[in-house]
Amino acid sequence: MKKLFPLFILIISITNVMAQNKAKVLVLIHSDNGGTYELAKEIAKGIETDNNATAVIKQVKEPQNQKLKNIPVATVDELPTYDGIAFGSPVYFGNISTGMSEFLSKTVNLWTNHALEGIPATVFMSAGSGAGKELALQSFWNSLAVHGMVLVSNGIRGYEGINKTIPQGNTVLGTTTMASLKDVERPTKDERELAQLQGKNFAKIAFALKGTLNKKEIRISEKSEDFNQILKEKNIILPQVPKPAGNYKPFVRSGNLIFINQVALKDGKIFNPGKLGIDVNEQQVKEATKVTMLNVLSVLNEAVGGDLSKVKQCVQLTGIFNTKDDYTNHAGLMNTASDLAVDVFGEKGKHARATYGASSIPVNSSVEIQAIFEIE
Ligand SMILES: Cc1cc2nc3c(=O)[nH]c(=O)nc-3n(C[C@H](O)[C@H](O)[C@H](O)COP(=O)(O)O)c2cc1C
Repeated sequence: MKKLFPLFILIISITNVMAQNKAKVLVLIHSDNGGTYELAKEIAKGIETDNNATAVIKQVKEPQNQKLKNIPVATVDELPTYDGIAFGSPVYFGNISTGMSEFLSKTVNLWTNHALEGIPATVFMSAGSGAGKELALQSFWNSLAVHGMVLVSNGIRGYEGINKTIPQGNTVLGTTTMASLKDVERPTKDERELAQLQGKNFAKIAFALKGTLNKKEIRISEKSEDFNQILKEKNIILPQVPKPAGNYKPFVRSGNLIFINQVALKDGKIFNPGKLGIDVNEQQVKEATKVTMLNVLSVLNEAVGGDLSKVKQCVQLTGIFNTKDDYTNHAGLMNTASDLAVDVFGEKGKHARATYGASSIPVNSSVEIQAIFEIE
């Protein structure tokens, strides 16, 4: 047993070195109905076939489709860290999908920093009837060529083996599938094999080119800010996300906007409750406003999966205060919330704002805040 131990360590070390030497390939997709994801899994399988590369599948945005919710969302800044990227999207009107297009439109900073130059790229797509599929693949190439990526085509690889009695998604630019053709399950068995071949060939190229770029020269000038770290440094502790009191959700995401409404709930009860000028004074309402804004931030943190660097802008805050009819200093009260937003998010915390008085507020809170944030 004693003799076996060093051998065991040696095997582990060799395995680690081998893993480090493999090319790291990102399979980056947008998918509405899962067709692109089906192809992505085959591409990833192909990438790992020869043991010279590892594949990770990520998507460009939070999906609407529950089936896709476990696939991680990629950030733009991570793209240059890969040795190759296989891009997949649905065909939209002979073009790449809007989801993929939106993501690529956020890569301007990578482009101006030449950050993707020389990194191999390959493309695959899911179509409906297949109308315009090669145009769509080519439109993918347009964007990637502008980035200076090394475009890896498919040629006629795998053509010999496919069943030619049914329509197949083989193209010289990349594998496709035609989801609305019903005679066989899509992707077909052959399309899956073509996608695997594409992945396998792509891994070979990514592996061969790995390390030929001096990645140290890559500078991303606009690094995303670590707002969670800022919270820590400023000793701002986010409370637990308050539970909804009815048939609604703590937040709703619509596109890239997050909508949140909170009252001054702290440790299960309302902090400094009541009407200003009768039950509470201005200082107490300001403290309740801070408690409410911390609740907003806590819900926001949940909405971005604990990564506040995804926050792009605090768009709007609306403060509603439980005041008497003749009260006019709502803005002074709301500054507590606005200051906190700017304290945490800096320029990105500056927002449009509305404030007003109400004759009563639910659960006798002295304040309610409605917030809209834009996130990645
Ligand atoms: C806005 C829009 C435009 C589309 N345009 C085309 C098209 O030009 N050609 C085509 O074959 N399919 C087209 N489709 C169908 C999708 O490409 C097809 O449903 C695809 O399989 C979706 O991929 P997914 O399952 O990964 O979401 C379009 C779909 C949408 C929503």
